[in-house]
Amino acid sequence: MRKKVLVVGKGAREHALAWKLQQSPARPTVLVAPGNGGVPEMSVSLSHTHISALVDFAVAEGINLVVVGSEEPLSMGLVDALQAAGVPAFGPTLAASQLECSKAFAKEVMAEAGIPTAQWRVFGDGEAAKVFLKNTAYPCVIKADGLAAGKGVFIARDYEEGCQAVDTAFWALGEAGRRIVIEEYLEGYEVSFFCLCAGGTAVPLGAVQDHKRAYNGDQGPNTGGMGTYSPPPFWTKELEEETLSRVVRPLLEAMARRGTPYTGVLFVGLMITAAGPKVLEFNVRFGDPEAQALMLRLRSDLLAVLEACAHGRLEELALEWDPSPAVCVVMAAPGYPGEYAQGIPLAVPPLKDYEMVFHGGTTIKDGQLLSSGGRVLSACALGPDLRTARERAYALVERISFPQAHYRTDIGLKGLEVGTLCIPSGSMLGEQIPTARLLARAES
Ligand code: AMP
Ligand code: GLY
Repeated sequence: MRKKVLVVGKGAREHALAWKLQQSPARPTVLVAPGNGGVPEMSVSLSHTHISALVDFAVAEGINLVVVGSEEPLSMGLVDALQAAGVPAFGPTLAASQLECSKAFAKEVMAEAGIPTAQWRVFGDGEAAKVFLKNTAYPCVIKADGLAAGKGVFIARDYEEGCQAVDTAFWALGEAGRRIVIEEYLEGYEVSFFCLCAGGTAVPLGAVQDHKRAYNGDQGPNTGGMGTYSPPPFWTKELEEETLSRVVRPLLEAMARRGTPYTGVLFVGLMITAAGPKVLEFNVRFGDPEAQALMLRLRSDLLAVLEACAHGRLEELALEWDPSPAVCVVMAAPGYPGEYAQGIPLAVPPLKDYEMVFHGGTTIKDGQLLSSGGRVLSACALGPDLRTARERAYALVERISFPQAHYRTDIGLKGLEVGTLCIPSGSMLGEQIPTARLLARAES
């Protein structure tokens, strides 16, 4: 009997996971709930947050593995509910997913485990936070405690901006902002590092650089991510080993000591500072658009990999990667991340073997592909080098018909210009100091 896999989510990350799962030599039946216009033949019309309906469906269909793509169902206990019903699931439990769902919780665990991160304080009321802001150093970073879909982090340049951010975090974000974290501003190279974790074992999947701001040159509001490339040239074996030994392994030990062991993919948001890697955040799932670049480069059978993780057999894994760099350019709806138009007609051309288009916010109506979300399409390409992968991804963007699409034209440039582009303008350390040290690390 063919295996059945259910991917839960509706974005381009889930399209990428489903696409890779379908290439498994086991030839599984892959379903996506709810999916999108990129996977019409795999879509199951069930919301990714309707926990009981997803469990009922998985049991009724005899699903062999549920792969949870996004954080919301994890934060609602989908993995716990599936396990209780006897359905194997890839992803952390509700208790373990607190690492992403509460930034204050993540900071407490990091403090307990001695994991390097920005200095921080937690506040339960705005007045106390504002008193603290009077005497803190700027810029500083103000974060709503809970899930806020990328909208809960504010970088304040001075006291006034800090107070505004505190008010926004507490009032505008509702439940997500019932506590806030104020932390030290870190400078360096930002990178997303992924590991598969089970039973205290961690298997690295590699690093990806995201571009979180809406506009070129890292300007404008934060988004879920406007594009990625992998691997980043500054990500060395030495940095990976340092991150495993100073961050990932101590974290897994601390979670196990607390009685909430971590299983699934761990997404470590890192700033590579002049003093070494420091954690910005933990996420308990693959990144979007990081997964698109990773799946393009993965040569191993994703089904076997995720099953090994879900069943606690990571020791057996030997992963194979395409050494070719991958670039992913997100094409967003005009207006994203603010209010954006929907229902824009789209056309995706036939693809070359080194190209792929993953769908995020798309739907099919009367046979016509239409936009239905903020981040609409991920145009991806592999190349023999980063420069070529970038050129190929942008050539693909040019061939996609998407009137008024909003996208950045500098995705991957950071990787070609290591040492100049990643240090934020107005840097207080001065641009050359951390850059020179980082380059020395990367070259050693
Ligand atoms: P987070 O959701 O915590 O990763 O924050 C969103 C983005 O804000 C990160 O991807 C960083 O670009 C930026 N950020 C968060 N924390 C810091 C920090 N302590 N220093 C500098 N930038 C930060
Ligand atoms: N691209 C960042 C995230 O998935 O959170």
